[in-house]
Amino acid sequence: MEKTNYFIRKFFIITVVAVIFLFIFNKRTTSTDKQTPRGPPPVCPSVISDQTITPLQNTKHFLVSAFMDQRQKGFDIRIIGMFHRDSVQKLHCLFCCVGHLGETTPTTVLVHSDHFGFPFATTDIMCQIPQNCTATHVTLLTQPSAENVSNLTWIPIRNRRISENTQRVNFTVCISNLFGDYNNVLQSAQTLEMYRLLGINRVVIYKTNCAPDLDRLLQSYTQEGFVEIVSWPIDKYMNPSRGWLFSQHGGDIHYFGQLTTLNECIYRSMERSRYVLLNDIDEIIMPYQHNNLMSLMDTLQQQHPNVGVFLIENHIFPKKHFEPSGKFHLPQWSGVPGINILEHIYREDPDRTIYHPHKMIVQPRMVEQTSVHQVLKYFGPEYKVPLDVCRIIHVRVALKGFLTLEQLNVDKRLWDFQEKLIPNVDKALKRVGMRSAEK
Ligand SMILES: *[C@@H]1O[C@H](CO)[C@@H](O)[C@H](O)[C@H]1NC(C)=O
Ligand SMILES: *[C@@H]1O[C@H](CO)[C@@H](O)[C@H](O)[C@H]1NC(C)=O
Ligand SMILES: *[C@@H]1O[C@H](CO)[C@@H](O)[C@H](O)[C@H]1NC(C)=O
Ligand SMILES: *[C@@H]1O[C@H](CO)[C@@H](O)[C@H](O)[C@H]1NC(C)=O
Repeated sequence: MEKTNYFIRKFFIITVVAVIFLFIFNKRTTSTDKQTPRGPPPVCPSVISDQTITPLQNTKHFLVSAFMDQRQKGFDIRIIGMFHRDSVQKLHCLFCCVGHLGETTPTTVLVHSDHFGFPFATTDIMCQIPQNCTATHVTLLTQPSAENVSNLTWIPIRNRRISENTQRVNFTVCISNLFGDYNNVLQSAQTLEMYRLLGINRVVIYKTNCAPDLDRLLQSYTQEGFVEIVSWPIDKYMNPSRGWLFSQHGGDIHYFGQLTTLNECIYRSMERSRYVLLNDIDEIIMPYQHNNLMSLMDTLQQQHPNVGVFLIENHIFPKKHFEPSGKFHLPQWSGVPGINILEHIYREDPDRTIYHPHKMIVQPRMVEQTSVHQVLKYFGPEYKVPLDVCRIIHVRVALKGFLTLEQLNVDKRLWDFQEKLIPNVDKALKRVGMRSAEK
């Protein structure tokens, strides 16, 4: 009995000591684990910009996006920026190669030729990726080497084609830019639904500002995945112009940076869309002989296999002239702010002696630099699409307000789509509670 008691006691003590020992040891190892991480921490990217506009430190310039672009020999990377033209300087690309710092490489800085006299211009910074670097992020330096890499702001490199499962769509519309208190809800809903009927898969909208109603509508399209809103807070960084010509309108950059966002949108779409349409939110690129854009483009591309830039002429439908029967003056839209495009069927003839206002359908891979009404640099020929094949329906303030009804052309092309368009617009407005109560 005593012997067993002794053994039990001994066993108990040993167990307690062992448990205490294990406990302390365990604590120690975990705390030392915490103090000494396995390897050195990655030196880059220290700070990654999550903004669409990133000030480039120690300069007057701004970076927007970086893209993989190997279409020209000697370059791998195209950084799109907004550069102050009075201080375009020598710069160096510095790379982050999956957590390790790469070498710097020299750059070629290309200021776009269209800047309409404003101090800031869209600028491409081209450079090469150094050897043995799987580049994930890039930044620009004013010196050939960085003094302190822990205070650099990096931007991610897009279009790296690592994920093969990125779905390529047929048509993306790039809308630049929303600003001010724009609140044309009805026309925007009609236009977006018209795009869908024509076969457009995605609409990218650069937004500085808009009125709350329109914002709500666009949010609901975003949730659905049809619209992608890119925040564009350019007014935080400079005094953007509401006009297009510096000598007339003043300011730091043309039209809220429209030229920059159009270029960024083309590159953003390069790997994920076959065609990109560059037009405004009140414009519809409308095929007149085909039911949708795919059959239009199939036809045009068969006739012109090498063309990557298709110019479409703009046609104004003045909003002051209404179709007389009022058959599309629908009661459910009466409380919705904005223009009802179905009510405007009178089309101006453009004054071709002055100016040919075109917008474009492009193959993004064939474009290098774009402006609003023309591409600046591209590969392959361009083609002006005949008016009877395709034109832009643009309901807005008259351009030639002096014209009488008799001098305008009746054009009811939009009515061909009314059967589907009206219920789709109703649904979109209902989603955001903007359709008047059903009667
Ligand atoms: C790149 O890697 C290869 C193989 O590891 C090596 O032989 C070569 O020297 C490296 N080049 C540079 C510039 O580091
Ligand atoms: C980073 O720090 C270095 C040294 O402190 C300084 O000279 C440099 O201007 C800083 N760079 C940036 C981008 O702030
Ligand atoms: C480098 O930059 C970091 C972050 O701004 C700062 O904390 C550090 O003191 C700088 N180092 C040197 C050597 O200037
Ligand atoms: C793109 O067009 C092709 C050919 O018309 C069609 O089969 C395909 O479904 C379209 N893709 C999308 C995403 O709409």
